[in-house]
Formats: sequence, C-alpha cells, structure tokens
Amino acid sequence: MFISGGLTGIFLGNSAIDIQLHDTYFVVAHFHIVMGIAAFFGMFAGIYNWFPKMFGRFMNETLGKIHFWGTLVGAYAIFWPMHYTGMAGVPRRYYSIDNFDSFRHFVDLNKFITVAAIVVFFLQVLFIINFFYSIFSGRKMTTKNPWGANTLEWTTPIKAGHGNWPGNIPAVQRWPYDYGKDGEEFVPQYVPLKEGEHDHGH
Ligand code: HEM
Ligand code: HEM
Repeated sequence: MFISGGLTGIFLGNSAIDIQLHDTYFVVAHFHIVMGIAAFFGMFAGIYNWFPKMFGRFMNETLGKIHFWGTLVGAYAIFWPMHYTGMAGVPRRYYSIDNFDSFRHFVDLNKFITVAAIVVFFLQVLFIINFFYSIFSGRKMTTKNPWGANTLEWTTPIKAGHGNWPGNIPAVQRWPYDYGKDGEEFVPQYVPLKEGEHDHGH
C-alpha cells in the first residue's frame, strides 16, 4: 500500500505534473491508499495478531480471509479508478460532477466506486461480528506462542495473572527479527546471544 500510494506521491511531488493533478481525484486516490488503506490494514493485522493474546481465543480464520481479501480488492476498487478520473481533471471537493460535459462520462465509474464502498463497508461489519463472536466462541488457544513470535508478550501464560509473568520477568537479549537463523525457525528475544553471535539490533 505504501508503494502503490507512495509512487503516486512522487508524481504529485513533481511540480510540473502537479499543475495538472493538484486538487483532482488523483490526490484523493494517492492519500487514501497511502494513509487510509495502509493504516487500516495495519490495524487489522494488529487485531488479528494480538486477539489471542487479549482473549485467549482466535478469530475465525474463514471470516478473516473473506474480510481480508474482500477489503483488499474492494479498497483498490474504490480508490484505483480515482487516479483515472483525477488525470482527466475531475476536481476534488465538488458536490457533483454530472453538471460538467467533460466529466459526465465518469458518472458510471463513480457509481461503481460507490457500490465498491458499500460492499467494503459490509465487510467491516463482518469483521466486527467476527471480533465479538470470537471473544466468546472462538477456537481456544492451546499454546502460548501460536504464531511462533519472538517478542516477550508471547511468553506469558495463556491466562496471565497479576504482573503478567509468574516468577522472573524475561529480559530482551536480542532484536525481535531472528527468524530463520542458524537453522532455527525463530529465536525468541529472551534467548541470550551465543558466543560471537552478532546482535542486529545494535
Ligand atoms: C513518497 C511519498 C509521498 C510523496 C512524494 C507525497 C507527495 C504528495 C504531494 C506533492 C501532495 C500534494 C498534491 C496536490 O494537492 O497537488 C500530496 C498530498 C497528500 N498526501 Fe502525500 N506524498 C507521499 C506520501 C504520503 C503519506 C505517507 C501520506 C500519509 C500517511 C500522505 C498523505 C497525503 C495527504 C493527506 C495529501 C492531501 C492533503 C490535502 O488534503 O490536500 N502522502 N502528497
Ligand atoms: C472506504 C473508505 C473511504 C471512502 C469511500 C472515502 C471517500 C472519500 C472521498 C470521495 C473524498 C473526497 C471528497 C471530495 O473531495 O469531495 C474523501 C476525502 C478525504 N478522506 Fe476519505 N474515504 C474513506 C476513508 C478515509 C480514511 C480511512 C481516511 C484517513 C485515514 C480518509 C481521509 C480523507 C481526507 C483527509 C480527505 C480530504 C478531505 C478534504 O478534501 O477536505 N478517508 N474521502
């Protein structure tokens, strides 16, 4: 998302090209992809990832996949066509474009965008249903670290009590990205560095 939205930022940053693109739907397309969609997918990822940490249960994977793929395709269906209307000069912040002969042929495309936005909206309702349904009825967590993550929050008991860790609090010994290192699928952060091992974090 940062690439597909950021690349159009490069065009906008070129002042000669921006004489045409400024205040058009190209800008609206640019910033929604780069900050709107990107931020939302970051939040989705965080929620799906830490949900089991919060509630001891997983969100429903099938609903999650429908939500993810539907929203991914749907979000681009909403914002991708805006690049074209923007390049053709359709201005932003106009109540309606069908008064203008030069833009009237975009009305159907605008309707398509509206339908895509409605579909994407209902997919978010599905996400919210999945969220609350899974709090009570999701598949239960049986291991502490289901994703094979390196960070310390996955070392607490599934039902963490007061203070989060019984006994000693684990300490960070290495950066959190030691995946696929020395034949290990993942090396948690509490594992001390071996003799001569280089810590990427410093
Ligand atoms: C390579 C990266 C980026 C470049 C070169 C870039 C460049 C630009 C330029 C030149 C404009 C003004 C276009 C115009 O009105 O004529 C613009 C608009 C905008 N950009 Fe970016 N951008 C980049 C990334 C981002 C990011 C990461 C965000 C937010 C997370 C962002 C948010 C916005 C917003 C909100 C507007 C519209 C502001 C308004 O309402 O007028 N852009 N961008
Ligand atoms: C599917 C969800 C969304 C849809 C369909 C949508 C649609 C739109 C449209 C059509 C405009 C242009 C209005 C105009 O120029 O007349 C707009 C403006 C804008 N949107 Fe969104 N948007 C969505 C989500 C978001 C999100 C998540 C953010 C921020 C993270 C965002 C931030 C903005 C901003 C800053 C403007 C510019 C307002 C202005 O021109 O003063 N939008 N949105």
